[in-house]
Amino acid sequence: MSTPFIPPFPKPHRSKLTLLPRFIAGLGSWIDTLYERSYRMKMGEVNLPGLHYYIANDLPLAEEILSKPLDYPKHDYLHEGLYPLIGDSVFTINGDAWKHARAMVNPAFAHTHLTKAFPNMMAAADAMIAAIDQRDLTQPVVIDPLMTFVTADVIFRTILSHSLSEAEAQQVFDAFERYQRWAQPAMLLRSYGVPHRLFRRPLRRAAQLIHNVLDPVVRARYDAFHRGEDGPDDILHALMKARHPVSGEPFTYEQLRDQVAIIFLAGHETSASALTWALYLIGKCPDLQHELRAEALAEPLSADRLRRMEAIRDTFKETLRLYPPVSFLMRDVAAPTTMRGKSMHPGDLLVVAPWLLQRKESLFPCPHAFQPERWQDASQADACKRAWIPFGAGPRICIGAGFAQQEAAVILARMLARYTIAVPETTQPQPTSRVTLRPKHGIALQLTLRPQETPASPTIAK
Ligand code: HEM
Repeated sequence: MSTPFIPPFPKPHRSKLTLLPRFIAGLGSWIDTLYERSYRMKMGEVNLPGLHYYIANDLPLAEEILSKPLDYPKHDYLHEGLYPLIGDSVFTINGDAWKHARAMVNPAFAHTHLTKAFPNMMAAADAMIAAIDQRDLTQPVVIDPLMTFVTADVIFRTILSHSLSEAEAQQVFDAFERYQRWAQPAMLLRSYGVPHRLFRRPLRRAAQLIHNVLDPVVRARYDAFHRGEDGPDDILHALMKARHPVSGEPFTYEQLRDQVAIIFLAGHETSASALTWALYLIGKCPDLQHELRAEALAEPLSADRLRRMEAIRDTFKETLRLYPPVSFLMRDVAAPTTMRGKSMHPGDLLVVAPWLLQRKESLFPCPHAFQPERWQDASQADACKRAWIPFGAGPRICIGAGFAQQEAAVILARMLARYTIAVPETTQPQPTSRVTLRPKHGIALQLTLRPQETPASPTIAK
């Protein structure tokens, strides 16, 4: 049997960190604070001066917490950390406000149905390939911003019927990177009970750079809609038509803006992160790459064909197991609760961590190894079904889970058909978990144009 490939993850500390080393490690990335037992434990507890937090790393407990959003609502810590970006959007609000917003947002998601979304995915993939073809391919290509370009373009087209330029996508990529850099110390200091007002302005500025890309299009469409003009039939149009289930009122402009911002951000940043890791992993495994390319080229790409690309699907699932873009799900307790002997109080932070649960040896054998074949292993089927939670679980599960996996299959198939992917010696990515999980210094890959692939997109079904 060949040695399993263990892709990079931070070496856990031997024992639990004390306050100061934890602070220093946490400044870089949450996963840098973990220690060996974190990966085996059922319940962890950390008492910081400004925050008590618990990590529920036991499958039945995680299921219980995620299935009861009223008992375990989203934590204020998350709301505060993301407020400049997404305001009071459906992602962070709770209770009736969430229920009603979700009821208004759900119908708009009919536009993410594959038959409608597939042409947008193909058009954005073509634009990305054209951008890559402009690069000097004798040199490694940094792929993180390109994955942001393609995924942001897909979702921009789906929400607003408008394509996004590479320059606009680069602005979003840089601004989100900047946001993450400021949000990390701000959230960390908050957990140490230190006021962090100083960070508000840079966070607002970074968020504004993203809003500058979205707002002009949303504002123009909103004004036109209220003048009674017809517009394209897309997510934005459905959101403008939505009515509150109790009051019958539409979203105000500010509410609409927040919902568009979360669908845009959640709808591309996570997918871009996962695709970046997927291409790196594929580049590291030439035999797998060969198999995936054969699958990608076997038939013309079509919405129907996507459902049958099993090897690509399993590779993306395995990527999401090892590198879940949202590595920690943050909850509060609505009332005093005792869990595995720990007394918790409202305001305490209760974490369910896809990063930890999906790397738990009692659930996934050889948990740190990249093994897409485990998805066809009957003995792991239960863990793959229940303990694989990159999209969350329960009523607050990701609305875009199906869309994200279809989009990933399109982008991976197009990349595999056009380029041979190799990982240069100098590329040794370091996963860094802040708002999302990203490689610290990006990932550069050697992309070589495949000889038979000279005309653009020969494999696309008409
Ligand atoms: C690989 C890609 C993606 C990943 C890993 C991901 C992950 C997640 C996770 C973990 C949550 C739940 C967070 C929690 O329980 O605390 C979530 C919620 C959400 N996601 Fe995604 N997501 C992805 C793609 C998308 C896409 C493509 C869209 C939109 C088209 C989207 C829209 C949303 C929204 C609106 C919510 C909030 C749902 C609610 O609370 O009612 N996501 N996502």
